[in-house]
Amino acid sequence: MTSSPLLSTIAKRLVGGKVALITGGASGIGEGIATLFYEHGAKVAIADVQEEIGQSLSSTLCNSIYIHCDVTNEEDVQNAVNKTVSDFGKLDVMICSAGIGGENKPRIIDNDKADFERVININLTGVFLCMKHAARVMVPAKQGCIISMASISSVVGAAASHAYTSSKHAVLGLTKNLSVELGQFGIRVNCLSPYAMVTPLATKFIGIADPHKFENTTHTAGNLKGVTLRVDDVAKAALFLATDDAKYISGHNLLIDGGFSVFNPSLGMFKYPEST
Ligand SMILES: NC(=O)c1ccc[n+]([C@@H]2O[C@H](COP(=O)([O-])OP(=O)(O)OC[C@H]3O[C@@H](n4cnc5c(N)ncnc54)[C@H](O)[C@@H]3O)[C@@H](O)[C@H]2O)c1
Repeated sequence: MTSSPLLSTIAKRLVGGKVALITGGASGIGEGIATLFYEHGAKVAIADVQEEIGQSLSSTLCNSIYIHCDVTNEEDVQNAVNKTVSDFGKLDVMICSAGIGGENKPRIIDNDKADFERVININLTGVFLCMKHAARVMVPAKQGCIISMASISSVVGAAASHAYTSSKHAVLGLTKNLSVELGQFGIRVNCLSPYAMVTPLATKFIGIADPHKFENTTHTAGNLKGVTLRVDDVAKAALFLATDDAKYISGHNLLIDGGFSVFNPSLGMFKYPEST
């Protein structure tokens, strides 16, 4: 992870000493957030179901901890929040990044109820449980910040399966509702909505294992040319939202999509010869 020395100094001042609990912290975006927060002086708790890689990451990020936590299990989530507070003394930032892509079956008639419910359980009920138990300790402290991983599928259709799109629209709804409830306690609640990037979830869902081929495909379909979205870009957005520089930002869905969600190609209005 790299950022300019000045930005690094500012971010360190703003998140240094803060305590962050990150679900899905063993892989992909969650791992990127855990690493960047650690590099900027935060104390990090990694909550995941992938024991081995979670433990291994926490041993490379000194003084961080790994907690086994299935976000669909309320006892696990309760324990993850309690252990973070008992080990580090408080919880400043709750990051809900655990998620799955589910089956990539576009036609609704091919989708089983059990597959639909599995995606909803992890991507939505899991976020609800993490928000609930984060609020349990943040409300008495009258401070805190909750950031959930939504997706461009929180605002557009046809970018993923019915189950995934439903779950991400619902995460946005939860984010809005909870930001209203917790505003009175000074607690900010936001979500991040990235376009596609290389992670185990996305390469599996799209079915392209080679990162270069994956990025070529997403780059062609994306709106903003000349740059490629990476985990690091999402981690930096999470870092910003966790700092006091974002002290008045709540109830927001920060799209990290290069304008993909505002782009409608049907009319081809801005198609110039040099960009074709
Ligand atoms: N990669 C993308 O293109 C992309 C784009 C937009 C949004 N997202 C969202 O970002 C989040 C992170 O996804 P990623 O791409 O980093 O995927 P990933 O597979 O690399 O990481 C997801 C992590 O969640 C964990 N997890 C899965 N089920 C869990 C459970 N029940 N309890 C606890 N942990 C569990 C996994 O073990 C894994 O470590 C997801 O919510 C995903 O929907 C990803």
